[in-house]
Parts: sequence; structure tokens; C-alpha cells
Amino acid sequence: MNIERPKTVMILGKGGREAALQWKLRQSPLVGNIMNTPSSLDLSNTDHVIQYAKDTNPDMIIVGPEELLVAGIVDAVQRIGIDIFGPTRAAAIEGSKTDQILFMQRHGIPHPRSVLFDRFDNARRFAANPLWVDRTDHYGLVVKADGLCKGKGVFVCSTYDEANEAIECLMVKEEFGEAGKRVVIQEKLEGVEVSCMALVDGERFLLLPFSEDYKQLFDGDCGPNTGGMGSVAPHPFLADRPELQDEILNKILRPTIAGLAHEGRPFRGCLYPGMMVTVDGPKVLEYNVRFGDPETEAVLPIISEDIFGPIAAIAAGQRLQMSRAAWYRPEVCVVVAMASSGYPEHPRGGDLIEGLDLAEKVYSAIVFHAGMTQNAANQWITDGGRVLMVAGRGRDIPSARANAMNAVGEIRFANMQFRRDIGLRRSKWHSK
Ligand code: AMP
Ligand code: GLY
Repeated sequence: MNIERPKTVMILGKGGREAALQWKLRQSPLVGNIMNTPSSLDLSNTDHVIQYAKDTNPDMIIVGPEELLVAGIVDAVQRIGIDIFGPTRAAAIEGSKTDQILFMQRHGIPHPRSVLFDRFDNARRFAANPLWVDRTDHYGLVVKADGLCKGKGVFVCSTYDEANEAIECLMVKEEFGEAGKRVVIQEKLEGVEVSCMALVDGERFLLLPFSEDYKQLFDGDCGPNTGGMGSVAPHPFLADRPELQDEILNKILRPTIAGLAHEGRPFRGCLYPGMMVTVDGPKVLEYNVRFGDPETEAVLPIISEDIFGPIAAIAAGQRLQMSRAAWYRPEVCVVVAMASSGYPEHPRGGDLIEGLDLAEKVYSAIVFHAGMTQNAANQWITDGGRVLMVAGRGRDIPSARANAMNAVGEIRFANMQFRRDIGLRRSKWHSK
């Protein structure tokens, strides 16, 4: 890479994750112009995206959303000679849960016990098996659509009726179309959920700080699942457990990278296994092949080194010098999502957002713009489910949380929704 001339970087994606990437890259002397995704660009149309890349010809593209990766954007952009950060279609295992399970079985990577189905009657019979009732008489099973469902294809079920309904929704009503025609049914695990992200060059990796996602809409992890209502980095449960961190690298991250390379689909990009740390050790719930959202918004603000170098090297097909962890400050970052009225089912747009200028002045907080746009009078209005991601930094969780909440407190829009307990999760596991 020619490091004398700052690079023009295009970031594909319109959410808080992409805003955080842009915030981080803007601090790099290696980066010149950063091109956002224009609101008119339809990211579900790969041909349009490629044409846009041809027309604007950036030095490098970073891909945010999984849909583009699974659709093969990386393969297509490489063919037109532009560097791109992300896995090829073959390596983008996020696209099929079945592929993920079979991959983990082949490589001995720990995961929940799982069975794959492509017939409704078999799936339903299997869900009725008393095997799913544990010794305390609790039913627990997870039904997952095989394909991408914008984060909505996973049903964590506590009764047979719930499981049956989930199977019906996917396989009979086909509410998610092709994506739900095959399902994975797996045991419901208990433990501490961990997000692990690493920038991978096909063989070596730069590990980003472990982080924690808050997926449910309401305080106390209640209510429907969302794209993520908040996050914390570094992960509080792992902070003083170096042996557990090593176990995650040795049992999950390294064998995943080696397994994909061995299968002739080396992974280049951000690999993000979502996992559950159980009494039997860490197990993979899902592979993501991109930066996590909202984890990225919590992780990047505490990283002290310039990560553009490794990103550019990986995008150019070059190698990292060695596998290591990214340098980060002895700080905590707490991210609070502010979501629009009706989120996640029917997010409402067009509500006026007030107080941004004051929020942006809160010391040690960063306001990442996500689902918002400007109206004809140049006022900010809501335009999506998660409107803003507010990141607070501090020496510990209470101070980081206070900084985030102070900024949140300045912002107002109609029927806004946010959680007040980000950073406060204390399961029975955390105290062990
Ligand atoms: P996934 O999209 O597979 O990461 O699943 C979404 C969420 O569902 C996860 O973040 C977990 O909270 C939950 N989940 C998925 N699989 C399981 C499982 N086997 N046991 C318990 N919870 C799960
Ligand atoms: N935070 C969950 C995800 O990015 O999939």
C-alpha cells in the first residue's frame, strides 16, 4: 500500500455502526476523504451498488451490512479492481445457519446441540420430544431460520406451543420466504453472551475488545428482541478472566479461521462469532461476517491504535504481521440506543429530533447518527428504527454510563425509546 497519499474510503451502510467506523477512520492520517452511503443508494440492489462504486472509484470500500456480503459484493468489487474489506461470498457463512452448524461439526468447534430440518412435520415432531424438557421441568429450545432475516429469524422458546408457532411461521406461513424453508432446532443454552470481533487476513487476526450486547427492547432484558438497544466494551464478565479469553481464542476464533482457510474459503474481513459462555465453556450461537451493531459503537471509541492500517492491508489482500489484540485504553464505553416510536415492529419516521447540539457537547460522549435524516428546513428528523447511538466513555461502567445518559438526557423526539439499564446487567453468572 502506498501510505504517502491518504486514501479515499467508501463505507457502505447507513447505521450507527457505519457512523462509528467513520468516526474512527476520520482520526487516521492514512485516510483522506470518507464517502458515506447516499440515502438514495439502495443497498439491497447489488448491481446499483457496484455501479456506484465504479462511478465514484474510491481507493477502498468497507462493507457494513451482511446482506451485501452474502450477495457477493466482495467478489464483484474485486473484479472491478477496487480494494474491499469483507469476506467473499463463499466465506460469508452468516448467510446460512445450516452451513454454520455443519462447519462447526466438521471442525470440532463448540456449539449448542442442533438438528437441521427441511420438512415441517419432522421439525414439529422433533420439537415435541421430551428431550427438550430439563430436570426442572422447563422446556427450552431455539428455532432458527436457515437464511438471513434481518435479525428476526431466531425464536427462543420456553413452551412447545411457542416452538410449534415458530416452526409454522417459518416453514408453513413462510413469513421469511426462502430464508425459513430450512430450520435449525437447537438446545437453549444458559450463560453469559459475548460478542467477539476480529479483523482477519485469512490466517492472522487483530482481536478487538470483547463486548456485550443488550438485545431486548426493555430494561431487565424483557420485551421483544431488537437489533440491539445498547452495548458495553470491554465485556465486564471477561475483563478479569484471561483464561476464558484464551479459551475463546483457542476453541473458537483460531479453529474457525483455520477451518475456513482449510476449506478453500479463507476469511478476510471482520469475523464476529456471537457466543454463550456456559458452565461447559464458550459455545458459538451464530457467526456474523461483519462488524456488530451496536458493539462497534462501543468498541471503536476505546481502541487507541489506528486500525485503518490493518483494514487496508486486509482489503488489499496483504498479510498482517502477527495475530494479536488491538491496543485499547483502560476505559469502558457504554452505548445507549435511542429508538423511534413503534420500534422494532413498526418504526415511525418523520419525528423532529431536538437537543442534538447540547448532547454533542457532553464531555466524553459521542453521538453516532443512525436512522435520521434532514427535512427541507434542515432539521433532523427520525428516519429508521434505531435513530441515534449514544456512546459514553469513562474509567468504569458507572462513569461511562453516566456520560452516555447525560447526553441521552439532552435529546428529545416523540415517543423515543431507550433502555436505562445498559451496563447494569448482573445475571446469576456474573456474580460467580
Ligand atoms: P443469533 O441470531 O443466532 O445470534 O440469535 C439471536 C439471539 O438469540 C442470541 O443473541 C441469543 O440471545 C439468542 N440465542 C440464539 N441461540 C441460542 C441458544 N442456542 N440458546 C440460548 N439463546 C440463544
Ligand atoms: N449486535 C448483533 C449483531 O450485530 O448482529
